[in-house]
Amino acid sequence: MLLSKALVFIFFLPKLVVSSSNNNFIFNGFRDANLSLNGLADITSDGLLRLTNNTKAGLGHAFYPLPLHFKDSSKSNGTILPFSTTFAFVIQTKDDDVSGHGLAFATSPSKELTGAFPNQYLGLFNNISHGSSGNHIVAVELDTVQNMDYGDINDNHVGIDIEDLKSVTSHEAAYVADEDGDWKSLKLVSGKPMQVWIDYSAMDMQLHVVISPLGVPKPRHPLLSTKVNLSAIILDDMYVGFSASNGAATSSHYILGWSFSLNGNMQALDSSQLPFAPSLGKKRISPLLMVVLPLVAVLLLLLSLGGIMLILKRRKKYAEVLEEWELELGPHRFSYKDLYKATRGFKEEYLLGVGGFGRVYKGVLPSSKLEIAVKKISHESRQGMREFISEIVSMGRLRHRNLVQLLGYCRRQGELILVYDFMPNGSLDKFLFDKTKSSLSWSQRFQVIKGVASGLLYLHEEWEQVVIHRDIKASNILLDCEFNARLSDFGLARLYDHGSNPQTTRVVGTIGYLAPEISKTGKATASTDVYAFGAFLLEVACGRRPLEVRSIGESPGLTDMVLECWKRGVLLNAKDPKLGNDYVSEELELVLRLGLFCSHPEPTSRPSMRQVMRFLEGDAPLHLSPDRLSASVSASSYDYSFDNVILSYPSIADTSTSARGSSMEAITLMHSDV
Ligand SMILES: *[C@@H]1O[C@H](CO)[C@@H](O)[C@H](O)[C@H]1NC(C)=O
Ligand SMILES: *[C@@H]1O[C@H](CO)[C@@H](O)[C@H](O)[C@H]1NC(C)=O
Ligand SMILES: *[C@@H]1O[C@H](CO)[C@@H](O)[C@H](O)[C@H]1NC(C)=O
Ligand SMILES: *[C@@H]1O[C@H](CO)[C@@H](O)[C@H](O)[C@H]1NC(C)=O
Ligand SMILES: *[C@@H]1O[C@H](CO)[C@@H](O)[C@H](O)[C@H]1NC(C)=O
Repeated sequence: MLLSKALVFIFFLPKLVVSSSNNNFIFNGFRDANLSLNGLADITSDGLLRLTNNTKAGLGHAFYPLPLHFKDSSKSNGTILPFSTTFAFVIQTKDDDVSGHGLAFATSPSKELTGAFPNQYLGLFNNISHGSSGNHIVAVELDTVQNMDYGDINDNHVGIDIEDLKSVTSHEAAYVADEDGDWKSLKLVSGKPMQVWIDYSAMDMQLHVVISPLGVPKPRHPLLSTKVNLSAIILDDMYVGFSASNGAATSSHYILGWSFSLNGNMQALDSSQLPFAPSLGKKRISPLLMVVLPLVAVLLLLLSLGGIMLILKRRKKYAEVLEEWELELGPHRFSYKDLYKATRGFKEEYLLGVGGFGRVYKGVLPSSKLEIAVKKISHESRQGMREFISEIVSMGRLRHRNLVQLLGYCRRQGELILVYDFMPNGSLDKFLFDKTKSSLSWSQRFQVIKGVASGLLYLHEEWEQVVIHRDIKASNILLDCEFNARLSDFGLARLYDHGSNPQTTRVVGTIGYLAPEISKTGKATASTDVYAFGAFLLEVACGRRPLEVRSIGESPGLTDMVLECWKRGVLLNAKDPKLGNDYVSEELELVLRLGLFCSHPEPTSRPSMRQVMRFLEGDAPLHLSPDRLSASVSASSYDYSFDNVILSYPSIADTSTSARGSSMEAITLMHSDV
């Protein structure tokens, strides 16, 4: 051990690249770095700065040993110099689901931070100092445990902390890829190297933070931007460095490289020189193993025979169906092996939900580390497959910020697998109906409504061909990390057209969202989507599903209820009680009235999505009287007496045991055997 350390030292001595001037320094690895370390922090023989090992309730600090003069002597009193820093880090956990509390870059008046606590205090503060001005600590936290006391948004976020653990601003760990402008989620505790950039410009007092996987150039779009007068907080002499802490669960927090500059000219990290974090699960060879080893060798010989058989079995395990016509579809094709690995063999823990279309799993692509949602659809019919796949692939060309991006597909015997962008916040209905989730504010709801309208307008009118969604409802609306609405499952209903007998038209949709004319024509149109959108508007505004199980026979459906309120001149009584006083009455009224307008039983009387968009944007006034609607809506709303078979696809159902008494799924009719 000692020998190897010495060897490493001698061997690497000439290569030590640590340059530092008064205000600038860079560490591409920390092999010879002279840092001030305390707590669990140490520098490994590989040149990694390890802030914590897997010690419970442990913390570690590593600061640049000299204080830096932040104040600008050339300026009038008080103003600090601009600064920039970047560092590469890895956070490893033994168990994917639990982790230590996190890691922070900090500027602090002290490099020891004596008295700071581990756990949620991140080694920066203690129960007295946090939140009290005068501690002069400014930190960027990579927080991997959600702490409600400090308003943490989740257990995977980046935040700016100014003298307090309550971040002034925070965001789920993610970045906007420069190539396509899409948000990509990152998992801080993934054990993958990532890089953070922090820039403060003293002139306009803007503090920017960006994060990306190591190797991806600094994304242009900042993750966090906030205006803050750090001159009022940062003292003249400050230390800069890192702090990390664990609680009952632990992580190993590593810094691979770090560059800092005060007043410009920050040097970029050289990723080729950075050390690698140790891979997990490496075990030392014990003396016992020395004895066991020869036995193992014999066993191995036997096993290698088995191995050949295993290879044959694996070949079957990863077998796909790939026909010649698919080759020209090119890059949209995923290999089954990648998807299998991404979802760890479609493990139950990775299951996000089960719906009429099949099971949906979360996955991480092995090569790009991209988070994906994988939809596994069992499909026996080969008939029409070619047409369907080309359609799906062409759907992959649909690009809109309110659609869940389809990335590609894979095909196996009897199975079709679709790959989508992963949406970290799940489906909208959870936020409306699930008591365990916090409810959405009105401004978030209105934003979601406008997003859905915009996505639907794109499908109906703005793409090269008209795409009918056919199953608009809250559970088919997913939310991205910024709570933007994303329509999912568009185009999928078509799967059930291909290969089915044209004589028996199957109606696809969910009762409560199905326009009355569908029972006669069986045909989905843009106008039936608008009808479902109307039901969706009322659902979001009233916090009730269009039809509730308990309400059948007792109280009217949602449309009638809203209409009734309107006629009595108390339209706003229909609103979701959970909203309290948090709403803009003009917007809420507009949404309720527009919901009724779209739910008009007469297809020709419904607005188009373009008109809907103009109403929502306030570009056109919505003139509508309750009397004009009343006769028609009440008369035929929610007529169950469909002659045709209704095949409804309950969308992704919650796999957790949440209260689902009022679930629409409970009353959807499933006659798929007909
Ligand atoms: C490390 O830095 C401190 C503070 O500048 C200094 O006192 C000490 O001598 C340095 N140690 C080494 C080994 O360079
Ligand atoms: C962590 O580091 C401390 C201090 O260096 C050491 O005493 C402890 O044994 C280490 N624990 C583990 C689990 O590696
Ligand atoms: C800055 O403050 C110091 C004392 O705090 C004072 O002596 C000096 O005159 C001030 N300079 C300016 C330019 O205000
Ligand atoms: C802060 O924590 C210390 C040590 O755990 C404890 O003795 C003290 O009572 C706490 N003070 C407050 C105000 O919570
Ligand atoms: C920022 O804070 C410094 C120090 O307290 C103060 O002198 C300066 O006026 C502040 N700047 C602004 C724009 O508020």
